[in-house]
Amino acid sequence: MTTIPTITLNDGVEIPQLGFGVWQVPPAEVKVATQVALEVGYRHIDTAEMYGNEVGVGEAVRESGIDRSEIFVTSKLNNGFHDPADAMVAFEKTISDLNIGYLDLFLIHWPMPAVGNFVDTWKALEAMKATGKVRSIGVSNFHAPHLQRLLDETGTVPSVDQIEVHPYLTQEPLRAFNAQHSIVTEAWSPLASGKIIGDPTIAAIAERVGKSVAQVTLRWHIQRGDVIFPKSVTRSRIEENFRLFDFELAEADILAISALNRDERTGPNPDEFNWIP
Ligand SMILES: NC(=O)c1ccc[n+]([C@@H]2O[C@H](COP(=O)([O-])OP(=O)(O)OC[C@H]3O[C@@H](n4cnc5c(N)ncnc54)[C@H](OP(=O)(O)O)[C@@H]3O)[C@@H](O)[C@H]2O)c1
Repeated sequence: MTTIPTITLNDGVEIPQLGFGVWQVPPAEVKVATQVALEVGYRHIDTAEMYGNEVGVGEAVRESGIDRSEIFVTSKLNNGFHDPADAMVAFEKTISDLNIGYLDLFLIHWPMPAVGNFVDTWKALEAMKATGKVRSIGVSNFHAPHLQRLLDETGTVPSVDQIEVHPYLTQEPLRAFNAQHSIVTEAWSPLASGKIIGDPTIAAIAERVGKSVAQVTLRWHIQRGDVIFPKSVTRSRIEENFRLFDFELAEADILAISALNRDERTGPNPDEFNWIP
């Protein structure tokens, strides 16, 4: 069976570099999709309260027969719960909905600059970690100034920053900031939500190395050192996205894919996004 590399977070916890994302997987389908992923060999699932599918993810994990300690599960604090007291209630609901004993990683989903209290929210996450119900804490969609405030005003450096990254949005400055502060970058929408599949530059590389566009793109992320969790509800693609460790891209191909950057987001800009579902 394929061994997925792990990355050691700044608190010593090991995270599998490849996982399975479940954004936009409907609650009625998420259990089966997660079961397929676990059968294929994925041992890292990325969900969120906002996705409305934590219950099904938890069922798949519980019923898998795989030791809980072998599966890494991430969830995220939804945007309406930044007040520390609300955050604690939301965290307990996530723990109860997943029903898998503990969480491996819990993130502030968005910084919500108009709400403006993510420093206090972060202190609530520190308190959550102290309960032992979550092994690591981090953030998502934080830009360098948001992270700098946490570094200046709190006692814990986030373990990860989960941000949008793909060949059309390579995020070099933010990834460098993260690396400088021992924060692991997690690349969300690693396939640009599927948009990358039609890219002619990557298609030419894929043809030459005998892999698919998705595999070449995901391999590009892996060789850059980011954590990824591509989403698919299609068994053949879930399998395809797992087969990334029997080939390597040449440096010239890595550079050619990085050169596709056009700072193009598929999702909102975190500096402007203040949506409460
Ligand atoms: N923190 C955040 O704010 C945030 C935001 C967005 C996403 N995320 C996380 O990142 C994960 C991945 O992002 P994502 O769901 O936006 O997009 P993605 O993984 O970049 O792309 C998923 C899309 O590509 C298709 N696809 C997957 N594998 C393929 C393959 N081998 N060949 C062709 N098409 C393929 C999927 O189709 P089918 O499903 O139909 O097969 C789906 O439409 C999410 O599930 C979530 O866990 C986090």
